[in-house]
Amino acid sequence: MTPELVTRLTEQMRYEFARTAPPDGFPRFPDIPVERFTSDEFWELESEHLWPKVWVIAGRVDDVPNVGDFITFDDLGPPMILVRGRDKQVRAFYNTCQHRGAPVVREAKGTSKLLRCQYHSWSYDIDSGRLVSVPDERDFVGLDKSQRCLATIRCEVWDGWIFLNQDPDAMPLTDWLGPIPSELAELQGPRLRTVARESEVVPCNWKVTAEAFLEVYHFKHIHSRGGDSLLDNRGAVMSLLPNGNSRMITPYSKATFSALGMQDFDDYKHIVLPGFEDIDTVNDMVRCTSSAYSVFPNLITPIAAYGFPFITFWPIDKRTTRIDWTHYAPIDFDPTDGLPDLWRGRLANFAQIMAEDFWNMAPMQKSLESPAMRGVPINYQERRIWHFHEQLDTMVGRDRIPTELQVAQLIGPYIER
Ligand code: FES
Ligand SMILES: [Fe+2]
Repeated sequence: MTPELVTRLTEQMRYEFARTAPPDGFPRFPDIPVERFTSDEFWELESEHLWPKVWVIAGRVDDVPNVGDFITFDDLGPPMILVRGRDKQVRAFYNTCQHRGAPVVREAKGTSKLLRCQYHSWSYDIDSGRLVSVPDERDFVGLDKSQRCLATIRCEVWDGWIFLNQDPDAMPLTDWLGPIPSELAELQGPRLRTVARESEVVPCNWKVTAEAFLEVYHFKHIHSRGGDSLLDNRGAVMSLLPNGNSRMITPYSKATFSALGMQDFDDYKHIVLPGFEDIDTVNDMVRCTSSAYSVFPNLITPIAAYGFPFITFWPIDKRTTRIDWTHYAPIDFDPTDGLPDLWRGRLANFAQIMAEDFWNMAPMQKSLESPAMRGVPINYQERRIWHFHEQLDTMVGRDRIPTELQVAQLIGPYIER
C-alpha cells in the first residue's frame, strides 16, 4: 500500500466514526432473494455460468517445486492436474485421459517426467499435454495423436499463488485482481511458505460462508473476549474494487489500541509480534488494524505481518460447502517437522474464531429454507455483500436470471476505479 492509500483509508475511518447515517444518496437495498441460497435453479446457473468462468486458487508454487512435480485439483468439479514443466512453468490440464477418460494420475501429488495414464499408458508431455505415445498404436485405425492432447486450462501465478480459470477468454489474472497485487506486494508473497492447511465442511450454501467474511457488523457480537471486542466496526472502511473484489480495514477498539500503547485508533506503531518471523515491509496501519481483502468469488484474506491465512469456499452441493484456510508465513522452520508452539497457539486461536463463524451457518441455511425467511435486508456497512451479489449476476449474465432472483444494479457509483 502506498502512504497515500494509508492516509486516505485512515481519513475514511475517521469519516465512518463521525457519520450518523449512510452518506447522502446511498441506496436502500431491496431484500436479497432467499432463493439465491436455496433454489436448484440458482445453483444450476452458478454451476453453469459462474464457476467455469472465474479465477480460483488451486495451490501454491511450493506444492510443485521441481520439474515434473504435480498436484491434482478437483474442487471445481472436473478433475484437473497442475504440473511444473521442464521450462519451470506451472501449467494446468484436465486430468482426463483422451483415450477412455480415466484419470491420467490418481495420486493427489507426485513427480513424473511424463503424464502416463495409469489405465493403458497413453502418455502426455508435461510441458504441452501433447500425446506422445500410445501402446499398440497399430490397433487404432486413423488415430491422429495431435488431436488427442490433454485439454488445457488457463493457469497464472500471482506472487506464488497458482490460480486456474476454465474460460480461455477470461481476462488475465493480474487484470482481474486490479489494484490488489500492487497493494499486497508488501506481503512479499514470493518468499512465503505454507504453514498449515485446515478444512471444515459446513451444511450451508457457499454464499452463506463467503458473506460471513465480508462484514464486521457481527464481530463484537460473536467474537468478543471477556466482553471486549478487539475491533470497532463503527470505523470500518469497506472499499469496493472492480470485478466484485473488495478491501476492508477495521480499526482496533479502544481497549485494544490502548493495550498496545496507541493514543488513538490511528496512532499506528510498527508492532512486531515477539517470537514470530516478521514481514518487515508490511505497513504500520496493517499492523494496527484488521485489514482484509476479498477476491471474487471465493477467497478472503485477513493479512498480517507475521503471516496470514487464505480462506476459500468450495461448493459441494447447494447446501454443503467446504471451507479451507491455509496459513502462509515467512517461516524459517520446516512445517513437516511440526510447528513451533507459538504458531500452534496462533492457529488454535484462529480456529476458534472460525468456529464462532461456523456456529451460525448451518442454522442460517435451515432458516433460509424456512417459510419464515422472506428476504435478506443488507445495510450500508454490509455493502461488500451487495457488491458480491451484483458481480455474481454479472458473471452469470442477468438475461439468464429470472427477475425475481436478481439483485438490482445499485453499487456501481461506489466502486473505486
Ligand atoms: S483411459 Fe487412459 S490410456 Fe486408456
Ligand atoms: Fe467472523
